[in-house]
Amino acid sequence: MSDIQRVGVVGSGLMGSGIAEVCARAGLDVIVAEVSADATEAAHGRIAASLGRGVRSGKLSEEDRDQSLGRIRFTTDLGDFADRQFVVEAVAENEQIKTEVFTALDKVVEDRTAIFASNTSSIPIMKLGMATTRPEQVIGVHFFNPVPVLKLVELVPSLLTGAETQTRAEAFVTGALGKEVIRSQDRAGFVVNALLIPYLLSAIRMLESGFASPEDIDNGMVLGCAHPMGPLRLTDLIGLDTTKAIAESMYDEFKEPLFSPPPLLLRMVDAGLLGKKSGRGFHNYAS
Ligand code: 3HC
Repeated sequence: MSDIQRVGVVGSGLMGSGIAEVCARAGLDVIVAEVSADATEAAHGRIAASLGRGVRSGKLSEEDRDQSLGRIRFTTDLGDFADRQFVVEAVAENEQIKTEVFTALDKVVEDRTAIFASNTSSIPIMKLGMATTRPEQVIGVHFFNPVPVLKLVELVPSLLTGAETQTRAEAFVTGALGKEVIRSQDRAGFVVNALLIPYLLSAIRMLESGFASPEDIDNGMVLGCAHPMGPLRLTDLIGLDTTKAIAESMYDEFKEPLFSPPPLLLRMVDAGLLGKKSGRGFHNYAS
């Protein structure tokens, strides 16, 4: 079983909010750090809405919802993470921002046995580890969106991650959070995105070349291959900006054309068409 009780989550976008929710539902004491009061308010709303969904579907009692929300504190000061035992970084997929977070955590977290996890999907864990004085405590712990629904976590040790960090992180995500683990080497994209991103980019190239409509591309994979959603709708769910950032990291690492983001994706990100979170991507979500 896991000895970890006090968790910190840095960043509360789609992934950070989901991770905080899952930790709170597991009975853990959670602090979520954000850059502004507005961002913490938005995260509170997102987590409350997701827990409300659980109540409506009969998976969660109203009391459980209230207790889970009550276990989460929000802060704009990373200094509040001094007593955390397990910190998950889930900020934007940007190497500079992530390394700054790790350097800051290294200064504030007092427990030298604390685990620093990153939810990155494509940035080398080794680089994040080297931004701290304790790379043996740093590990990739990659969740999937929507975090409360999807069972998988990719566990990604760097060359310097300690054996005990790996064992404790695995015990935490399986024992405390009830997830299933697969392991990957520290290579951009790990296992799932190395397979998924070329597929999503292929769908965008197919649309870009006028090959088929968004609806037909998505219906093809939903009705023909029993995927829960088609590739363009899934890109909308992940976020076009995040998809672009992951593709760029993978392209930087492998220099393979299949990871290169197509111009349509780049232009849509320039236009602020980021998918579900912005109301429009390959499909429309405006209510
Ligand atoms: N939070 C909490 N619960 C949610 C949720 C959310 N955001 N979204 C859906 N759910 C729950 C619903 O409450 C519902 O629960 P119930 O069965 O108890 O009522 C259940 O999930 C199914 O939801 P819906 O009926 O609303 O809708 P669908 O059946 O269409 O499922 C979906 C929605 C779960 C998003 C499904 O379409 C799906 O699994 N899609 C694929 C998602 C995927 O591939 N994610 C991986 C992305 S890659 C990634 O994250 C890695 C990153 O690095 C890019």
